[in-house]
Amino acid sequence: MSASPRSVARGANLLRAGKLVAFPTETVYGLGADATNDLAVAALFAAKGRPANNPLIVHLAHVADAKRLVRFDPLSQRAADTFWPGPLTLVLPLLADSGISRLVSPNRQTLAVRIPSHNLARELIETAGIPVAAPSANMSGRVSPTNADHVIADLNGRADAVIDAGACPCGLESTVFRSTGRGLELLRPGALSAEIIEERLGIKLVIDPSPTEVVSPGQMAVHYSPRSRVRMNAVSELDGEVLLGFGLHGPTGELNLSPKGDLNEAAARFYSLLRAADEFALRIGGATIAVSPIPESGLGKAINDRLRRASCQPLS
Ligand code: TXA
Ligand code: MG
Repeated sequence: MSASPRSVARGANLLRAGKLVAFPTETVYGLGADATNDLAVAALFAAKGRPANNPLIVHLAHVADAKRLVRFDPLSQRAADTFWPGPLTLVLPLLADSGISRLVSPNRQTLAVRIPSHNLARELIETAGIPVAAPSANMSGRVSPTNADHVIADLNGRADAVIDAGACPCGLESTVFRSTGRGLELLRPGALSAEIIEERLGIKLVIDPSPTEVVSPGQMAVHYSPRSRVRMNAVSELDGEVLLGFGLHGPTGELNLSPKGDLNEAAARFYSLLRAADEFALRIGGATIAVSPIPESGLGKAINDRLRRASCQPLS
């Protein structure tokens, strides 16, 4: 369905009826389900082929709605006040009477919550009037979708509806934090850069360099993978490689994340071009995707994080 008040109303009705609706956010497209409905949440895990132990983010229209589900400490409250609505996800203690399905965050006392800034997402959630569990609208382990065609390429026949509002402006998933006694711990770098968070909140983020347990399954090594092999920090392409460029050193044609070397532009185009490079590489007989060096600053950290996971090993 193309974006309109009618499609928002239809999408909201479908969500309330326990169906799965894909919708755009400022980060990536999400596949939404009623977070209070066990059957809907189970169907969501099945549609994506997602391991049942990987918890979902619950999306809300207002901070007051989040407060009915989780307990905010002063620092997370300040982060929420500063960055919501927007691409920030907070993992907080789940309240006992939240009404959220146990399947959303299995075997955990926490819940990830986020208030997206994309107008269509907020209208849909507000109209539905329920908390909406929404992982990225791709098959589990694959590249996240940043437009409706990507969603359909992965989930055709598996979602009940897709609302198409064009490309997502940020293009990378939200930044995920959990609140610990020591401060805010970064679980997943994302569309809101660590530098901006530290600067605006006047704090230093806690980054555990060697987590002893997988706190957030999104931290698992193999994730966000194209089907082709990926080689990072490629100064030039070798035989049998397709080059995905960045800046002046990259190719001048289509496959350059940002010819002018702008990391925000690169982030917005990243998943789309990774898909395009993947398709090209497969078409020419299983080439490797070589990616130009991406600076490890600002959104470059989140892009490199996704590339490190993608280069770990191909899925098939
Ligand atoms: O930008 C986004 O966050 C998108 C859009 C649709 O909002 N959603 C998204 O969802 O990326 P998903 O399911 O693909 O990624 C959620 C991440 C996973 O890495 C998951 O393990 C982590 O958040 N997560 C969710 N709940 C958690 C919890 N209670 N504790 C730790 N990590 C959690
Ligand atoms: Mg995902």
